[in-house]
Amino acid sequence: MSPIKKVAVLSSGGDAPGMNAAIRAVVRGAIYNNLSVMGVMQGYHGLIQNNFIEMTSKSVSNIIQQGGTILKTARSQEFRTTEGRKIAFDNLQNNEIDALVVIGGDGTFTGARILSQEYNFPIVGIPGTIDNDLFGTDYTIGYDTALNTVVEAVDKIRDTASAHSRLFFIEVMGRDAGFLALRSGIASGAEAIMVPEIDTDYGRLDSFLRNSYKKEKSSSIVIVAEGEKMGGAIKIAEKVSNEHPDYDVRVTILGHVQRGGSPSAFDRVIASRMGVAAIEALLEDQKSIMIGMVNNEIVYVPFNKALKNKKPLNAKSLELIEILSI
Ligand code: F6P
Repeated sequence: MSPIKKVAVLSSGGDAPGMNAAIRAVVRGAIYNNLSVMGVMQGYHGLIQNNFIEMTSKSVSNIIQQGGTILKTARSQEFRTTEGRKIAFDNLQNNEIDALVVIGGDGTFTGARILSQEYNFPIVGIPGTIDNDLFGTDYTIGYDTALNTVVEAVDKIRDTASAHSRLFFIEVMGRDAGFLALRSGIASGAEAIMVPEIDTDYGRLDSFLRNSYKKEKSSSIVIVAEGEKMGGAIKIAEKVSNEHPDYDVRVTILGHVQRGGSPSAFDRVIASRMGVAAIEALLEDQKSIMIGMVNNEIVYVPFNKALKNKKPLNAKSLELIEILSI
């Protein structure tokens, strides 16, 4: 018999479409297993502020299709301190919480790992970030929806780029990872991508652009990951414009539109599976792990492993961009 009777769930860091589906799955997975469940508002900030709310099956009705997170989110500086985490732990105890489920990205899991170690407290993480940058899982919740948002936007930009025979640099999110840029580049038929994982060879980009110009391509789209080392789409576009005043260059920074919207079916499904898996993991006495999805199967990844390793970009996918842009 597991000693766990009551769990709490929170979302933290940047929101991602599908977090609500995950919250719903955690709450209903807990109730299904006869556990009580509370929500913590505003992530670790709410944990320190003692902002707990009762959750019932009804409190997560009609949210599977909603973007954002009903529990709100925050990036808490106080939780980075020993004193902050002591208050958070005291609040967990005062609310008789036996285990915690956290939904978020690497910052969220870094905090969870420390709290779990300091107080030997069971915490399970669910990967929720549009960046898809967590090692140990093929997908994070929100990535697929953001990808579709980017592709829809790039398709629209392609129409106007083509009408004016323009070269567009489109900047996408991803922090210091290029997953969104790479996949959206393939799916939108981008001529090139620039990602943080690969040092940009400006000479190569330049000769590539010269070639497309010679081929009289009706438009060119370059997807630039925000963490790319040359400093982002605006800087690159300025350099290209200065060197080629004959190119008609424009920049679009997609920004936070990538974080919003109703989650895709894919994100809703993985969020539902991961949410229930998090409760099952706690009932198996797991602590300090992230729920991952590898080859469509649920896996348990120790926080240490998920945080210490860098997830690589798929080399074959990188090659695809080059093959398909000739
Ligand atoms: O981690 C998700 C993310 O959207 C990143 O892609 C981006 O760099 C960052 O969050 C933006 O954070 P904020 O919403 O705090 O500006």
